[in-house]
Amino acid sequence: MTDLQFNYKMDKERAYKELEQQAESLFADETNVLANMSNFCALVHRHFLFWWTGFYLVEANQLVLGPFQGPVACTRIDFGKGVCGTAWKTKEIQIVPNVHEFEGHIACSSVSNSEIVIPIEQNGQFVGVLDIDSEKYNTFDQTDAVYLHKMLKLIWK
Ligand code: SME
Repeated sequence: MTDLQFNYKMDKERAYKELEQQAESLFADETNVLANMSNFCALVHRHFLFWWTGFYLVEANQLVLGPFQGPVACTRIDFGKGVCGTAWKTKEIQIVPNVHEFEGHIACSSVSNSEIVIPIEQNGQFVGVLDIDSEKYNTFDQTDAVYLHKMLKLIWK
């Protein structure tokens, strides 16, 4: 386990507070959503050393792969399919402690064992999702959900 991953487990709240400060200054003066999504992935991914961190964005009746960090991933996800499509359908944050127990989970990588998906809305319109995968089981909880959701609001104001 790396130092960063150790810190993440031991003091996740503190790690997120640091990250939030960086995000606030990074997104304060930039309005380009593509640029901000790209930096968001890099920031979160490098801070916590997750397996995969990225966006899927709505295009017609599908979610299409957006900016991400990590290995190549599936490009299109249908409404209601997988964890991402379920977040779209329910408009609820999905915290999945063990992806192998999630019915219909789409395995872009066999290395991923837990996952969090945050739906993104702007002016009441569903825009897409932030999806994060971890190699470890039980990685994500309410702390991740609260801070990630809060930081996404820095992009979709
Ligand atoms: N596991 C996701 C698919 C996307 S990858 O994890 C990058 C899902 O079930 O929707």
